[in-house]
Amino acid sequence: MGVYKDEQGEIFAINITCTHMGCDLVWNTAELSWDCPCHGSRFNYKGEIIEGPALKTLRSKDAIRFNP
Ligand code: FES
Repeated sequence: MGVYKDEQGEIFAINITCTHMGCDLVWNTAELSWDCPCHGSRFNYKGEIIEGPALKTLRSKDAIRFNP
């Protein structure tokens, strides 16, 4: 799981296994994105695709979104 807390205190926890071929994503502090070291896919903190080659968002059923 990867967890990001936004400026309003909302927390986003998602599965950070890349949907392309299964590599573990790495947090990019400068861009606030989850980046894949294998083939370069990038996802935002909500799990939406920024760039491929991945074609699927991070699994939404694993997303947890709540306010404190
Ligand atoms: S495994 Fe992540 S881009 Fe290929």
